[in-house]
Amino acid sequence: MRETQESIYADIPELRIVERDDQRSIKSFVLRGTPLKSFQVEAVRAYYDDYVIPYEPKLLDFARIFGNDKPVIIEIGFGMGVATHLIAKERTEYNYLALEVFLSGFTKLLDKVGKDGLDNIRLMRFDAVAVLEQMVGDSTVAGFHIFFPDPWPKKRQQKRRLIQGEFAALLGRKLSPGGYIYAVTDWVPYAEQMLEVFAGIEELTNPSGGFCPPVSWRPETRFEVKGREQEFQINEVWVEKKA
Ligand SMILES: C[S@@+](CC[C@H](N)C(=O)[O-])C[C@H]1O[C@@H](n2cnc3c(N)ncnc32)[C@H](O)[C@@H]1O
Repeated sequence: MRETQESIYADIPELRIVERDDQRSIKSFVLRGTPLKSFQVEAVRAYYDDYVIPYEPKLLDFARIFGNDKPVIIEIGFGMGVATHLIAKERTEYNYLALEVFLSGFTKLLDKVGKDGLDNIRLMRFDAVAVLEQMVGDSTVAGFHIFFPDPWPKKRQQKRRLIQGEFAALLGRKLSPGGYIYAVTDWVPYAEQMLEVFAGIEELTNPSGGFCPPVSWRPETRFEVKGREQEFQINEVWVEKKA
């Protein structure tokens, strides 16, 4: 199994750069060796060039990448990409940049979008913090989707949570006026942290004044199913950049 992962790294060395990146400001993920099935390896061979943007500390030109001026939504940590795939397929008035470091999920989404021939989505396997800091221009993003970010429940792990002051400020800077951040979690203390952190960013506003009602177009994610099975309470947060 491991050989298949090594074989795609041999073909596309840039795909593994994320594993050597030890300069991260928020250590929001831990990478483990990923067994891949043959369809995932094939997806990389078939669709990499059309769908994957390699990490490079240089600003992305979304209009050139997508060939149009549709607003761009960035999803951070798409996991298996089940919801990402459906949203891109159904909400075609947007372009999507989907970020995930987990190789198995990354290759699964690549397989789905490639087979469907979607033209409004691109994928990156890299740390979202670095991508936003180095590759995304200020005021260029119409929305962020952050569905079930790792909750890091233990006290000593909480500094690993993605949604914390500096990162929220970074999201705010990247949003265009009127753009949104839509975050969902099944970990109540993290949901409260999200509200508090976003409330601390001057340029963001919360139209619901607290948690928002479930958004009708968001499909259930893989991680959400696990949370529901444990009867965890799901909270949704929607904030916007002041126009
Ligand atoms: C708990 S999972 C949720 C996945 C998916 N959104 C869902 O709801 O099923 C969180 C995901 O975020 C990814 N992740 C964490 N930190 C990240 C980062 N800095 N950049 C990109 N992805 C990240 C992890 O690899 C993991 O797959």
